[in-house]
Amino acid sequence: MKHVDIVNGSTKVYGLIGHPIKHTLSPIIHNTLASMVKKNMIYVPFDVPSQGLKEALIGAYQLNIQGLNVTVPYKEEVIPFLSKLEGYANQIGAVNTLKRSEEGYIGYNTDAEGLLQSLIQNEISINGQNIMIIGAGGAARATAMVTASQNPRQILIVNRTKERAEELAKAVSFHYNVPVQSGSLDSFDQDFLVDLCIQTTSVGLHPREDQSPITDEAFFSGVQAAVDLIYNPSETLFLKMAKNAGCKTVNGFGMLFYQAIRAFEIWNEITVPQMYIDQLFGVLKN
Ligand code: ATR
Repeated sequence: MKHVDIVNGSTKVYGLIGHPIKHTLSPIIHNTLASMVKKNMIYVPFDVPSQGLKEALIGAYQLNIQGLNVTVPYKEEVIPFLSKLEGYANQIGAVNTLKRSEEGYIGYNTDAEGLLQSLIQNEISINGQNIMIIGAGGAARATAMVTASQNPRQILIVNRTKERAEELAKAVSFHYNVPVQSGSLDSFDQDFLVDLCIQTTSVGLHPREDQSPITDEAFFSGVQAAVDLIYNPSETLFLKMAKNAGCKTVNGFGMLFYQAIRAFEIWNEITVPQMYIDQLFGVLKN
């Protein structure tokens, strides 16, 4: 597959800032999309050391870099340096996409939109459903806000540290008029009938593939769909157990993929044609 055709004086530069970023798939996604829709742009990874974030952003702006993705560990830290936040970034308090404007970089959270799009593609609905979210960190916050915005019946947030689940439940209730309960991973309300369970913690992530935040397969009986935000491994123990119990399962690859598509669309103010999305998805999945 061809990536960047030619770099010349008119080429617009985009990139990724984070640390570490060696294994990122974002350059291949954006450079391939650029080639597909014939945009004269290039997307470059920038490994920014801790303490260097502010200088990196000032430098990027002066270098006329048009947009940046932001990944671990800077998704929250970057906010004070932005001119404003758009969409879900406000509720989530974390951004993964910056777009250059006259006033500075504007922050977006396309992780949230990526998750939503992945659910849509997999025909998993949130409207009227009982949603259980496992975890209360940054990924859980994005998951909770975006699901709360789609008219679920109820949300239950469970976490190893119960207090963090309670805090997140409060934050969700502050932004959305949805019943939100919280509990600890060891003891949560068993009468909550889960339709969709979204796993957002790092438990089960390579190389801890023998771990799952849910240890009893019986939990999954009655659950319609289980989603894990992890994509490496492609099937976590959590998803294996869910699949054995007859649930529909979805891993985190779609979220990663669609957050990139959304960022590309925001930067270029276009809608990427579906045939290119399908083509790229097929290539990357294999
Ligand atoms: P992220 O931004 O990726 O969500 P994070 O903010 O560090 O990362 O949150 C990590 C989440 O994984 C938290 O919900 C954390 O639970 P605690 O709040 O109790 O720390 C959860 N987590 C991490 N390791 C875990 C483990 N071994 N068992 C259960 N939960 C775990």
